[in-house]
Amino acid sequence: MATRGVGLLTRLPLCAQRSRVLHPIHRLLTCPGTVATDVRREEQSFGSAETGSEDRTLKRFSEVQKERREQAQRTVLIHCPNKISEKKFLKYLSQHGPISNHFFYESIIDDQLNILLKEFQLTEENTRLRYLTCSLIEDVAAAYFPDCAVRPFGSSVNGFGKLGCDLDMFLDLDEIGKSDAHKTSGNFLMEFQVKNVASERIATQKILSVIGECLDHFGPGCVGVQKILNARCPLVRFSHQASGFQCDLTTNNRIALKSSELLYIYGAVDPRVRALVFTIRCWARAHSLTSSIPGAWITNFSLTMMVIFFLQRRSPPILPTLDYLKTLADAEDKCIIEGHNCTFICDLNRIKPSENAETLELLLKEFFEFFGNFSFNKNSINIRQGKEQNKPESSPLHIQNPFETSLNISKNVSQSQLQKFVDLARESAWILEQEDKDHPSSNQLWGLATLLLPSVAKSMSHTKKKKKPASERIKNLLESIRSSSTENSKNTVGKRTVSTQA
Ligand code: GTP
Ligand code: MG
Repeated sequence: MATRGVGLLTRLPLCAQRSRVLHPIHRLLTCPGTVATDVRREEQSFGSAETGSEDRTLKRFSEVQKERREQAQRTVLIHCPNKISEKKFLKYLSQHGPISNHFFYESIIDDQLNILLKEFQLTEENTRLRYLTCSLIEDVAAAYFPDCAVRPFGSSVNGFGKLGCDLDMFLDLDEIGKSDAHKTSGNFLMEFQVKNVASERIATQKILSVIGECLDHFGPGCVGVQKILNARCPLVRFSHQASGFQCDLTTNNRIALKSSELLYIYGAVDPRVRALVFTIRCWARAHSLTSSIPGAWITNFSLTMMVIFFLQRRSPPILPTLDYLKTLADAEDKCIIEGHNCTFICDLNRIKPSENAETLELLLKEFFEFFGNFSFNKNSINIRQGKEQNKPESSPLHIQNPFETSLNISKNVSQSQLQKFVDLARESAWILEQEDKDHPSSNQLWGLATLLLPSVAKSMSHTKKKKKPASERIKNLLESIRSSSTENSKNTVGKRTVSTQA
């Protein structure tokens, strides 16, 4: 398997002679020149001969060979520990001579995690299509509520969306009448009026009901419209044929929009976060820990919270706590929604990057170990404080809703689903541990493949675990179905399960 830690490849200027290259530090010490010129020279070496000529003559095979060999001779490879600070290390090395170019090698698993992210994340086109779809739905909704806004939230915008994920949208009526254009448009500002209703929830249901009808009868390309109004968070679900998205439209859901912003910030402050979340989401899907059908399983949203919590617990922490992000907030960040304090800093640039330099491979293994041994029966996961707390209620898995702190976002998860998660986490930690020791043979799968292919994971695990007796498997299945159908009957259908949740 890949080497642990990172290696640094340092390139030196042309003048380093083969004869002088006896020891890496010697190579460094004997090299004059400046960083900028050396970098330019390196870049040119790919397009033209290293003579510095600007012509675009194609190089002979022998020339490429010669240049590559020379390049290799003035390059050093340094193995360095995992936790090294790249900046400090480079500063230290530069004392011995200028460094013209460098890059850090990471492990093969690190590369695989980044490739997974790159392949599955939403593309620019897909993201645009999501905003466009919202805009088209906004046009329909504007028939009733002129100047309303339909905004995407959830994984379409929080940085953790995988191609094919649903499109969560939120009909925003709060901004109506606030724009300057309106204030100056005359005396007739009333655009709609919600007549006296018993509660805000009933108003939400009425609004979604008319929009649902409208989309069903007249919404271009909107098919399979379902009104799921009795859910905890009422919604209208439909397929948008032209874009191919499965859409969930809600209203009066500003807190969810704020959680999307918070996740976006966490995903953006450190490049390892998104890669790790994507991998854990893929791992969970591959092992049927998550499902597109609502039920007693863990959701992607809960998994993301678990990863964030885990990264807050590293030493030094990779991610700050929500309470800390709140202390950084200034007046314009202040945000109270329905009495809940949703304030945190919105300017990412003011969040200091972490000093932690752990590799993704290490973090992946540690994630599985952390949750494979977590005291789920006693403790609650809390990203606001970044430390576990006593569980306030008896649900098998307790993840505190970051803004509505009395709520548990994973209340739907059954004991058997949690146990499955724990068993798989332990097994995956074990597999990664073995990978560290064994070098894969050519006919063996290695790296992420051992974790993401369920059958392979089993055969690789060597654990010779006894298959659970049929009675236990049937019991688990019934338990999942029962909890899922209870929720469904309570809430009609409902994804954001609608149910139980916070
Ligand atoms: P995928 O759709 O699975 O890719 O992820 P997602 O994050 O979009 O999840 P989902 O569509 O289920 O929910 C959309 C958003 O609603 C989430 O990102 C959260 O902001 C919010 N949400 C989902 N589930 C819950 C919950 O149980 N409690 C609360 N408070 N918010 C939730
Ligand atoms: Mg979603």
